[in-house]
Amino acid sequence: MTTTESTETTPTTTETPGQTTSLPESTWNHHHLLDLDDCSRTEIETVLTLADRMREILDRRIPRVPALRGFTVVNLFYEPSTRTRASFELAGKVLGADVISVNSSTSSIQKGESLIDTVRTMRAMRTDAIVIRHAMAGAPYLAAEHTDASIINAGDGAHAHPTQALLDLYTMRRHVGDLSGKKVVMVGDIAHSRVARSDLWGLAAMGAKVVVCGPPTLLPLGLRAQDRPGHAESALPPVSIETNIDVALEGADVVIALRLQSERQEAGLLPSLHEYAANYQVTAERLVRAKPDHLLMHPGPKNEGIEIAGDVASGDRSIIEEQVTNGVAVRMALLYLLSGRVDPSEVVAEART
Ligand code: MLT
Repeated sequence: MTTTESTETTPTTTETPGQTTSLPESTWNHHHLLDLDDCSRTEIETVLTLADRMREILDRRIPRVPALRGFTVVNLFYEPSTRTRASFELAGKVLGADVISVNSSTSSIQKGESLIDTVRTMRAMRTDAIVIRHAMAGAPYLAAEHTDASIINAGDGAHAHPTQALLDLYTMRRHVGDLSGKKVVMVGDIAHSRVARSDLWGLAAMGAKVVVCGPPTLLPLGLRAQDRPGHAESALPPVSIETNIDVALEGADVVIALRLQSERQEAGLLPSLHEYAANYQVTAERLVRAKPDHLLMHPGPKNEGIEIAGDVASGDRSIIEEQVTNGVAVRMALLYLLSGRVDPSEVVAEART
């Protein structure tokens, strides 16, 4: 689903007579970032490896480098956001880019300007990257068809939130290393969560075992490949679906609590918030079933007392604040990659030495 431009590649296969030749695996092959469903493990690792370098810059006493001087990023947010918007803004500024945030409630969007017109207007001002958050699934894809600026999806409806998934993967990797075979449990409103969808693609690419858990009305039943013969393209990657939170949490390496996306839910999906919290809140009592050294994550904003108990959100297994810091590093890495000012194959080669 992405438009391809730069194709820095590192051959990862060797040719032996009589064997089929595999194409070299690309280290980064995207001009836009719309979702992780078409990102390979190697591409994701390129971002995560570069994010390590960015995290080092971010931790300096004066976190500023001129790597993206002369590069312009526009934040175009049609939906509320605190952390994602601030994170992109900071990511660009740390690297010396010019970052402009357009507020949809005070811009010409209020006068009826279409997304396509707004994106074209931004590009006419020589914008290099446009970060879009929109209530409509697919809006960033539409934008990408009408501009040669790099489009970054910062959340489109219930569809995707790829930079949240990248920062989640990066944060997990910093703690547990290789994610292959690790049990990652997502609890909450899976059906309406764009974070869950992008996390699923990313975790599947990294070889994790994913369990999604929630009440049946908030689970994406019917989206499994076996439920959709002939429609594999709209199926989710392989995932276990569980309605009992105690069963789901058994032996978990990572637990991700997700907010009820009430802005996207139709009425009648839950008997009451009280009942939801009683059956699905991530609590200390329930987390004893997870591995003792499990990681507890949440993309934010969190509603303590509903999907997550306050004491575990700020407890010693919680890495929720670290997710926020890592979000800046990951977005720095992504902007740098999309700028074309770094050779992705060198990033990967350096990490392998
Ligand atoms: C999102 O924008 O999807 C957030 O990061 C997660 C949420 O709103 O629950």
